Amino acid sequence: MRSYFLTWLLLMSSGLWMITEAISAEADAASAAGTAVEQTVAAESVPDVAHGKQIFQTICSHCHHADHSTSAVGAPGLMDVLDRHDEAWLHQWLQGPEAFSKKDETAQALVESNPFGLIMPTLPEMQDEKNRQDIIAFLKTLKSE
Ligand code: HEC
Repeated sequence: MRSYFLTWLLLMSSGLWMITEAISAEADAASAAGTAVEQTVAAESVPDVAHGKQIFQTICSHCHHADHSTSAVGAPGLMDVLDRHDEAWLHQWLQGPEAFSKKDETAQALVESNPFGLIMPTLPEMQDEKNRQDIIAFLKTLKSE
């Protein structure tokens, strides 16, 4: 009888612990969401270079170097890239290299210059205008003097 009681006590307390954990996890998620909303609102107009750098490191650097050297897949080094293209061009290229290269001569020539016949993929992250703004802000910092 006593061991039943102990088991019950154990179950009850672990149940209670789980409920407390769940509540605090929910509170964490709610406050994280609040922070995210604040960040989005604050960042709307100001490009976030640090976020752009993060995007570069996690996505673009798989194929691109941040210096002048062409990578192993034939992706140009992105140093001084703003001297080669303006922002409006970059927005369109980043949003959809494949589609854009069908209607823009510069983009088409770029694709045709790839030694392996590769086209930069259309990236889901680059469908977001804010992400494009941030990565372009970071690309601007890649300037040699
Ligand atoms: C899977 C490989 C790959 C990834 C990932 C990739 N690119 Fe590219 N990118 C290329 C290739 C290859 C080219 C050259 C044109 C072509 O062949 O399509 C290119 C061309 C470019 C150009 C034109 C460069 C020039 O000198 O004219 C820019 C700008 C660019 N990419 C930016 C980016 C950014 C920013 C990211 C990350 C958000 C990115 N790319 C991710 C492969 C990639």
